[in-house]
Amino acid sequence: MAEPQRVRELPEDVDTDDCMTSYTHIYSPDLLKQLKPYAACHHTRNIMPLTPNLSPFVSFRHGCDTVIASRNLEKLTEAAKKLMVATGRHCLPLTVDVRQPQTISAAVDETLKELGRIDILINNAAGNFLCPATSLSFNAFKTVLEIDTMGTFNTSKVVYEKWFKDHGGAIVNISATLGYRGQALQVHAGSAKAANDAMTKHLAVEWGPSGVRVNTLAPGPISGTEGFRRLGKDLWLPGSDLINMFD
Ligand code: COA
Repeated sequence: MAEPQRVRELPEDVDTDDCMTSYTHIYSPDLLKQLKPYAACHHTRNIMPLTPNLSPFVSFRHGCDTVIASRNLEKLTEAAKKLMVATGRHCLPLTVDVRQPQTISAAVDETLKELGRIDILINNAAGNFLCPATSLSFNAFKTVLEIDTMGTFNTSKVVYEKWFKDHGGAIVNISATLGYRGQALQVHAGSAKAANDAMTKHLAVEWGPSGVRVNTLAPGPISGTEGFRRLGKDLWLPGSDLINMFD
């Protein structure tokens, strides 16, 4: 008879933007010790939840110093302090709007000045809200594409040109599973992430010869995060009225 499936104990959930107080390592705790990741986040609150092991901010838990970047320096600074206390690693907060390449350029220059190198770029910037396609304004669709898709391209291009082209590196694009089945109320985000998935493959092929690995990570909805709270956990739970309405 087959052994019953072992259910792994899930990390504690958090309702606020605080870091997890305990952390279970899947990989060696000092796996990334010598590395310097740069995370481009559009919305600072998204960076705080460290609940999932899949979070890009797991990098902090594996021993590396990290830059976090988004539009709101006040929130970023608060986040950086919490991350440093929780992990004991250095975290440099920098202001960036991923839609404005000159702000990315300035932040990458500052990163190289402060940390000396960039090993991993994590493109995590995303704008999202629930909205039926018929109610979505032209500008709303464009805004989400500009943040998610153009933001990912802009940041990747700047980091590639300023560092990865000559030194290699790794790019991780945080994607979503929304577009796989055509999630209702999410045509903007699903379309943007689908474009990013294609971009990942194109850039992997073009930049591979320079020693740059480009990959996508699509974790799906993660409880205890700002996105999960903001987009409505009911959307993803079995039996949800929203899912039934459109399924
Ligand atoms: N529903 C429908 N349309 C919305 C909306 C919503 N909840 N929020 C914004 N929009 C529309 C605006 O009405 C505007 O369109 P209009 O000019 O035709 O009226 C357009 O989107 C741009 O909004 P604006 O507020 O000017 O842009 P912004 O640069 O400040 O970004 C968001 C707006 C919504 C993209 C941004 O605030 C955001 O995404 N926040 C959430 C981030 C987040 O939680 N991400 C989690 C991803 S899992």
